[in-house]
Amino acid sequence: MSGLIYIINGPNLNLLGQREPEIYGTTTLKDIENICLQIAKKNNINLKFLQSNAEHDLINWIHDARQEAKGLIINPAAYSHTSIAILDALTLFEEPIIEVHISNIHKRESFRHHSYVSQKSTAVIAGFGIDGYEIALEKMISLCSN
Ligand code: DQA
Repeated sequence: MSGLIYIINGPNLNLLGQREPEIYGTTTLKDIENICLQIAKKNNINLKFLQSNAEHDLINWIHDARQEAKGLIINPAAYSHTSIAILDALTLFEEPIIEVHISNIHKRESFRHHSYVSQKSTAVIAGFGIDGYEIALEKMISLCSN
């Protein structure tokens, strides 16, 4: 398969490795990016791996993805639970979307149980730790190849 997949990460995920390691582990976002780049290379696809703490950046990247991406993987972090604007942007994206959460948001505080983004996601992966990114990418590659 050739093509481009976006992986978009929301606020505070730049601090993976330092941030609440008992919940999110000790792997950094750079390590996750490297794992994903290896999978992409093996499968002959291109990857854009992005992170921002600003909601408008995530929205603009989703708009960019409309023009060029075959699929979008997103961990919107806390914006999952608050952002109708991100849901609206995803509604304009017509290719598969996989939502990833490192932790199992359903086992945590009740305010994390609802994700606006899930309403538009093709699939949701939560609770597999950072392996969720790998699983999402493998699945996205097979979805995009069909
Ligand atoms: C998260 C879960 C969110 O509730 C939290 O705000 C995050 C990370 C996860 O990957 O488990 O920042 O999306």
